[in-house]
Amino acid sequence: MHELFNDQSVVKGLVERYGSPINIHHLPSFNHNCEIYKEVFESYSLKYRIFYARKANKSRGLVKQAFASGIGVDTASFKELEQSLSLGGNSENLVLTAAIKTEPQIELAIRNGVPIILDNEDECVLTQAVAKRIGHKANVGFRISGFEVDEEKLYSRFGFDVDDVIDFISSYVGENKTFDQLEVTGLHFHLDGYSTHQRSISLITSVNIVSKLKNKGYNISFIDIGGGILMNYLEDEKEWFAFNENLKKAVVEEYNDITFNDNGLGFRLEDGKLRGKLNTYPYFNKVNKEGFIREVLDFVDDESGLSVASLLVNNGIELRIEPGRSLLDQVGITVAKVVHRKKDAKGQWLVGLEMNMSQMMSSSADFLLDPYMLYDSEIKENEQVDVFFTGAYCLERDVLLKRKITLPKLPAIGEYVAFVNTAGYMMHFFETEAHLFDLSTNLMFTGSNEKLSFFQFIDDSKIVLE
Ligand SMILES: Cc1ncc(COP(=O)(O)O)c(C=O)c1O
Repeated sequence: MHELFNDQSVVKGLVERYGSPINIHHLPSFNHNCEIYKEVFESYSLKYRIFYARKANKSRGLVKQAFASGIGVDTASFKELEQSLSLGGNSENLVLTAAIKTEPQIELAIRNGVPIILDNEDECVLTQAVAKRIGHKANVGFRISGFEVDEEKLYSRFGFDVDDVIDFISSYVGENKTFDQLEVTGLHFHLDGYSTHQRSISLITSVNIVSKLKNKGYNISFIDIGGGILMNYLEDEKEWFAFNENLKKAVVEEYNDITFNDNGLGFRLEDGKLRGKLNTYPYFNKVNKEGFIREVLDFVDDESGLSVASLLVNNGIELRIEPGRSLLDQVGITVAKVVHRKKDAKGQWLVGLEMNMSQMMSSSADFLLDPYMLYDSEIKENEQVDVFFTGAYCLERDVLLKRKITLPKLPAIGEYVAFVNTAGYMMHFFETEAHLFDLSTNLMFTGSNEKLSFFQFIDDSKIVLE
């Protein structure tokens, strides 16, 4: 990132060639994140598999890099699966977890021996029918939910209820039963939220279910705990607390000059009282990535007195994870060109960018990272300015960051702004072609010891599907 920012001729060349905005991906960072997860599992002598949840980013280059880094890919649609197969995927390094599974999807998975994570009885019926029709058994895992943690049942719209799954499998799945074409090889869950405690308890419950199913003759080998492994976006915890406190204060005092149009980002004032909560990703996390996994694995089960890791090792169970966001930590930036600057009726500076809100959109209230300005000319003292970045959609709310940003000086037309750490969900998940704007170009950079050059950046759409 810093290399690029220090050599603006390359950025300029890329934006001129591929249009604004561009998404630049740094593959060595992705590989580094894969290594971090591998090392943590190896330190526990666990059997494990890591699947990159590619829903978090559309690029082909990252799928190829996942295989090159020795990990697998979690696919969530026909096209994600088909493309991942074309990029080198197979029965060992792919999994299908789509929320809605169509017949073509299921057929493609079965023909390639890719495990299918089943969510409900209708999916069992469809998978059984397809398997029978094409004469191949289906390798399946059962998604489960409804774990009881601290006397509360965790709700999810996904999966079989944890209290019913043993009965269901033992009544209907296996030889001479309704679903005789399904070979159950694992259990799966993906919890909403980021609690390590809930994951530990859910894992312990799952280990117990695996034992009971094994006793009934099912050859279950893995538990997949999905994604939601926290990552950290910020350097300084103090910044995070200060922002939270200042936002709350601004909402309570009804003087909010922190966000666009007084957006409380989840906080609101009701009868003079502060209500709600910050509705964004928790951007600062002391326990993240490998630390998060360690916290899940080190938890000690009350009943057996063993850690979660020991329970898995002792039972010979392979642990699987499907991180999306956290594998993309420091992997991508989005660079856009400044098109105009204006002062609105409130006297606020609006900086118009050649991009739109869908090209950097969070599923929550705001993306809370400061962007980096690439200025053409020198910055003098006392030129600081507060701005909002605005986008190209005809909506009042096309404001790229809801937070007001203080810049060293007002950007000039044609200068660039870089939004950092955008690879996980931000750049693609909600991208649309409204107004017939082109989708942004994704570039892959493999890293190099040579001086940076325009030619080291590969257009992701040109990566060949075999
Ligand atoms: C089944 C499943 N696996 C993995 C993931 C990836 O989660 P994350 O990107 O938070 O790691 C998701 C995200 O929604 C999911 O639904």
